[in-house]
Amino acid sequence: MSGSTSDRGAFGSQFGFVMAAAGSAVGLGNIWKFPYITGENGGGAFVLVYLACIALVGLPLMYAELIVGRRGGSDVLGSLRKLTAEHGALGNALSWFTGLLAVTTGFLILSFYSVVAGWALHFLFVSLGVVPGGETAAATFTGVGGSFGWSALWHTVFMLMVVGVVAVGVQGGIEWACKRLMPALFAILVLLLVYVGVTGGLGESLTFLFKPDFHKLTGESVLEALGHAFFTLSLGMGAMVTYGSYVGSDRHVVRDGVWIALLDTVLALMAGAVIFAVVFSQGAEPGAGPGLVFVTLPDLFAGMPGGTFVAVAFFLLLIFAAWSSGISLLEVCVAWMHDQLGLPRRVAAAMMGFAIWLTGLAAANGALTDDGVLAVLDDVTTRYMLPGGGLLVALAAGWLLTKEDREAGFASLGLWGARLASVWTVLIRFVTPALILLVVLAKLGIVDLSSDPPAEDDAAAALESRP
Ligand code: PHE
Repeated sequence: MSGSTSDRGAFGSQFGFVMAAAGSAVGLGNIWKFPYITGENGGGAFVLVYLACIALVGLPLMYAELIVGRRGGSDVLGSLRKLTAEHGALGNALSWFTGLLAVTTGFLILSFYSVVAGWALHFLFVSLGVVPGGETAAATFTGVGGSFGWSALWHTVFMLMVVGVVAVGVQGGIEWACKRLMPALFAILVLLLVYVGVTGGLGESLTFLFKPDFHKLTGESVLEALGHAFFTLSLGMGAMVTYGSYVGSDRHVVRDGVWIALLDTVLALMAGAVIFAVVFSQGAEPGAGPGLVFVTLPDLFAGMPGGTFVAVAFFLLLIFAAWSSGISLLEVCVAWMHDQLGLPRRVAAAMMGFAIWLTGLAAANGALTDDGVLAVLDDVTTRYMLPGGGLLVALAAGWLLTKEDREAGFASLGLWGARLASVWTVLIRFVTPALILLVVLAKLGIVDLSSDPPAEDDAAAALESRP
């Protein structure tokens, strides 16, 4: 069933792989979502919980996905099938279900992700003065998000950017692009940090991010933090399995996994630091919700020295981040079509790209309404499909892989490796699945974690509005 693996492609270097995987992880989740959910959930305490989720659920799953890809050497479905073969029907059924769920999740996420990324393109061109904007950022935002035509146009452009890279190949396309996008993104963030260091607000911003006030934490916030840990690390839909399958040896799996998670976390915190510095220096509210980067920030930029330049840099940052993530979402689907159905990469990229583009058009319609296709897709994929996929991968990796496959990535770490391997085994078998299950049950309303009294001074949250 599996297509030939000789023409699958491979990353040319370890650095290229880490850039691609970190490029997948660092995306709208870091620059758009992390700051606004941190703002809504009161800052420091939420950040601490989020860091704990990355460590307890994110890192173990990251390792699980990478090792499945490296040992399996194929797309999500193919890799899982190979590694669980000795479990017969159970392994086969779990592999099929997990594999198809992963591909569907990637497909659906990219269809709406591309629409949101398209808005960033719009803002970039408005900031450059190429495309007319509204009087205020809010007007620009409703102008693009509330218009099917504009949203569809930018969504089309973004999909072409993504398909164009994936069609070229793993090394010449994905690796080539991410090796440039990631350092550029980092450089822009450093520049912006220096800028807010000079223009003010950085101190207040860092206090907001790092000084925990546990009164502001609710059960809901904990769930939100855990759910976001999946999304931001690109876990639960086979992106890391797929990228992991393009690297030859298991030697550096642990180190690479830590690097990917570390880069993702550091970049999210840097983006948060910049954004809240701007917010505080202009006396705005941190809890502005999903409109934070599109509605609040652009107006604040306008009031700052060199505002146009800052706005251009910021939206470029957002686009670079989204682009490398979009690439990985498409790659999961393309690798599946190539490895399982035997289609050439270019054909697979074009076909999948077209189907995702079509689905995205539905998301572009009524994108700002709470019950529109975009909102529903966002909700279903991040709340249920990613955690569900993560749970299945954890169970497969923890219980169905052979000990040799499971622990392969720790082998090169000597005595420490053996210790880490046993800690990881306990986490992936029990702790990670239990925490994921808790989140899913809570989201379904079966377990109630949200009975804590809401924080008194959460008037800020009331400001949340999708215009
Ligand atoms: N991690 C990406 C982000 O933070 C989103 C993503 C999810 C990408 C799942 C690939 C797979 O924006």
